[in-house]
Amino acid sequence: MGDKTNLLVVGKGGREHALVWQLAKSPRAGTIFVAPGNAGTGDEGVNVPIEPHEFEKLTRFAKKENVGLTIIGPEDPLANGIADAFQKSGLTVFGPSREAAQIEASKVYSKRLMRHADVPTADFQVFDRPDHARTWIEAREFPLVVKADGLAAGKGVIVCGSKMEAIAAIDRIMVREEFGRAACRQVVVEQRLDGDELSVLALVSGRSIVMLPSAQDHKRLRDGNLGPNTGGMGAYSPAPLADAALLRRVEEEVFVPTIHALKRKRTPYRGVLYAGIMNTRRGPMVLEFNCRFGDPETQCILPRLKTDLVSLLEAVALDQLSEFAADGIDWDPRPAVTVVLASEGYPGKYAAGKVIEGIDEANKVSGVKVFHAGTVMDDSRVRTAGGRVLAVTATGDDIASARRTAYEAVAKIRFQGMVYRTDIAANL
Ligand code: AMP
Ligand code: GLY
Repeated sequence: MGDKTNLLVVGKGGREHALVWQLAKSPRAGTIFVAPGNAGTGDEGVNVPIEPHEFEKLTRFAKKENVGLTIIGPEDPLANGIADAFQKSGLTVFGPSREAAQIEASKVYSKRLMRHADVPTADFQVFDRPDHARTWIEAREFPLVVKADGLAAGKGVIVCGSKMEAIAAIDRIMVREEFGRAACRQVVVEQRLDGDELSVLALVSGRSIVMLPSAQDHKRLRDGNLGPNTGGMGAYSPAPLADAALLRRVEEEVFVPTIHALKRKRTPYRGVLYAGIMNTRRGPMVLEFNCRFGDPETQCILPRLKTDLVSLLEAVALDQLSEFAADGIDWDPRPAVTVVLASEGYPGKYAAGKVIEGIDEANKVSGVKVFHAGTVMDDSRVRTAGGRVLAVTATGDDIASARRTAYEAVAKIRFQGMVYRTDIAANL
């Protein structure tokens, strides 16, 4: 389908490296530019020193280089209207409009949309005054979760064990504005849900939905799900708990009503929609929506894709996804496991500039791909440059063998202060 086309991927994480790596396999891929990219994307594509918030530089670059499709990785530029800027410039872009990206950028927007569309989610209240929030919390008898309205780099959600903790959370968000003034103006206080979490992603364009295989993330820093929440320390796909029946329920009860509601609001969704699901006794319920690919879920899902990614993402951007929705897309049935290697101190402060050794040896292990996240190339050496540094993915005949292979590759990599979980995809 179609000719070769130049591509631009915006972002610099492991997710973006996985996208670039999979796009590069396509016979349709011309030059793949990455803005700004990392040491891994520079290997597989061409890094361009433009930051994701520099919309004008990016659109000018895309025009100059004849880029036929731009793919936006992170949520911040989407929430600030990068897709709108590309469209206004007559460029084809994969990612939702500013308005549709509110589904991630504002928890108040997202929860109200779910209530309106009858999508299963925890009961909630919205507050813009701390005294009202405190009074409401005092009268509750069930465990609560307090969430800052706006984007807070994954830190604005506080799961509370007691009323006292919930009131302290109101203080942190509304009084101390720990996650920035704009993000903290309103809070959502909701009922805490119990169950197993999973990530379900779908490509969405107007009315068409193509479900991707499920994945399970490991959000806590340390083994045994201990320590602080992070962006994600590892993942596996598919998630054994997400059988066909559960995924069908998520499609019918979550994705269909949500995208129809967005369309009725005249903000049709175009891009990847990521539902964080809690599988409760009452069935699947939505914890949050993200308006972008997950990280590290993408490093674990994309290696299993067999369909041409350029054509697939282009179909989303051009509103032609119905062709794929009818025919389906092809996946390697073998599971994949991804282990994230991080810098000591992450998700707090960490040191950068440490030399990384052993990436080539790890990549030589059969079935393994090492994706770069916070890395830079410096004097022909790869150095650390972020909290999450690498994501090591392995496929295998079953999860146990994928897991063994992933850790065999991890053992070949070294950098000062390297930390990782040893229980990704364990005990399934
Ligand atoms: P969110 O950014 O909304 O997904 O929240 C981050 C994490 O907080 C989720 O992955 C869950 O582990 C947890 N969480 C959020 N909302 C709830 C809830 N209502 N009940 C239990 N845990 C939650
Ligand atoms: N892994 C969680 C996220 O991408 O938000």
